[in-house]
Amino acid sequence: MPEDDIFKQFKEHSVAEFFKKNRQMLGFSGKVRSMTIIVHEIVTNSLDACEEAGILPEIFVQVEELDREKEHYRLTIKDNGPGIPKTHLGKALGQMLAGTKFHRYLQQRGQQGIGAAACTMFSYLTTGQPTKAVSVYKGKKVTASISIDFKQNKPIVDIIEEVDAVEGEVGLTFISEFKDVRYERSNYGVYEYLRRTALANPHCAITLIEPDNKSTSFPRSVAVNPAKPMEIKPHPLGIGTHDLLEFARHNRESRRLSSFLQETFSRVSAGKVEELRALLPTVDLNKSPQDLTWEEAESLVKAFSQVKWIAPAMDSLVPIGKEQVEVSFRNIFNPEVLVVTERSPKVYRGGIPFMVEVGIAYGGGVAGAGKKGEVMRFANRVPLLFDSGGCAITETIKTMDWKRYDVKNFEEEPIAVLVNLVSVHVPYTSAGKQAVSLEEDVMDEIKFAIMEASRGVQKYLSGKRKAHEIATKKKVVSRYIQQLSGDLASLTGEKKAEIEKALTKIIEEKYAREDMEVEETEEKDPEPGAVPGNGKPEEEGEE
Ligand SMILES: Nc1ncnc2c1ncn2[C@@H]1O[C@H](COP(=O)(O)OP(=O)(O)OP(=O)(O)O)[C@@H](O)[C@H]1O
Ligand SMILES: [Mg+2]
Repeated sequence: MPEDDIFKQFKEHSVAEFFKKNRQMLGFSGKVRSMTIIVHEIVTNSLDACEEAGILPEIFVQVEELDREKEHYRLTIKDNGPGIPKTHLGKALGQMLAGTKFHRYLQQRGQQGIGAAACTMFSYLTTGQPTKAVSVYKGKKVTASISIDFKQNKPIVDIIEEVDAVEGEVGLTFISEFKDVRYERSNYGVYEYLRRTALANPHCAITLIEPDNKSTSFPRSVAVNPAKPMEIKPHPLGIGTHDLLEFARHNRESRRLSSFLQETFSRVSAGKVEELRALLPTVDLNKSPQDLTWEEAESLVKAFSQVKWIAPAMDSLVPIGKEQVEVSFRNIFNPEVLVVTERSPKVYRGGIPFMVEVGIAYGGGVAGAGKKGEVMRFANRVPLLFDSGGCAITETIKTMDWKRYDVKNFEEEPIAVLVNLVSVHVPYTSAGKQAVSLEEDVMDEIKFAIMEASRGVQKYLSGKRKAHEIATKKKVVSRYIQQLSGDLASLTGEKKAEIEKALTKIIEEKYAREDMEVEETEEKDPEPGAVPGNGKPEEEGEE
């Protein structure tokens, strides 16, 4: 082809076309994995919607096998959430990059506006069928079939029925058929995914009906929703030049740059604006935000990094909580030792709040369940089952010097480590949201949290080892009593039985004392927080 003809091939494409061609980027690769990813996307949406509406989530998941040979399944997922209004139903389930979360700084499970449409897409691509949705919103029940116009990334919606909802009808029901998927009860399957979801979401009740009609309930163990995380504005340290320009161009409320900065970002007070003014004598902070130039935005972003800011509001983060992790871990494993740590919130990339909580279970039921070196990764309470290589959580665990904590070989010991990363924006490695990227600040915190919890485990293990050493020593020494008391009796003329009794008493007393010392060290709580970088919660000050 002549060089100047190449551009005859030039075309534009939509994001839906892109993901149609690259569905592996959404996590759709491998049959078992694809099935789990679908359940993951729809269930996380249900949990987000219920919690935002203040409803205790109750989720029903049914997987039906329609044709074993063709690996053809129907998936029904129903929640008791607020539903989706008819006006938004199509876009919510049939348009990529559309939703109520992408643009907000709020700790939620979804953050891209892709997940639901990705499932609708996968269903359509593998079966040619639209997805059926039944949504009960404010007393109206709408049944619709939805698919995607890939060229335009627009939903194709057909409203099948619109009626008044009868009492008891609530939420969203997602009914969709899939091929190129497989149901399996493996470590990567739907069952395991929901089991881990229940573990990290004790306020949620889940029922699963598997293809063989076996019904499993994961009942709720807490009757209240977790505290609602606070929605925050972006922090000046977390944004770049282009972000700032976008915010400025779309701003309608503020007439001056100075008030725009205060209204758009968190922690920008009148005092901070004055500091910025002093740092930027050439930028007119009284001008309209619409007139902000790239150069001015660039120098503002540079000045942001020179000002001392109050950290972002930390009530934007809600962890699972120490008590809940303990209860959940005990329910699953009933381990011999269990230590849970919750670190204070920190920021990554300068302005994005996050925090890490870790639970380590050792021995007991962990061994009973045949688990060895088990890592349970979560982000905002969502189980991450795939892409463990290259995930900040797995990588951090790999680099830990476990021997320092009396765990000789992590992979071979009955140990289970739970890590939950909580953030208003989880830095996922891809749109499939299965692994956390290797952000240095995040990895440091994961490491400190694991170190803290490991110290508790170590105390227990070294106590146990000592107790074992004492028992062995006692056994060895006791072996000589017979011989020694016979010899002493013939040397001194005393009765052998008396000497034997006295020697036994001495040994019993000596080792009983040492035993007690070991128990005392075991009972102490692990020392919290004695690790580098364990900052106190950032101080809140006046804005
Ligand atoms: N069960 C539901 N109940 C109420 N609203 C829902 C439900 N499921 C989806 N939505 C709405 O549809 C939108 C799109 O969902 P989708 O999963 O595509 O994106 P997201 O959850 O915002 O982000 P992500 O792509 O990270 O999952 C959501 O933002 C939400 O507003
Ligand atoms: Mg979602």
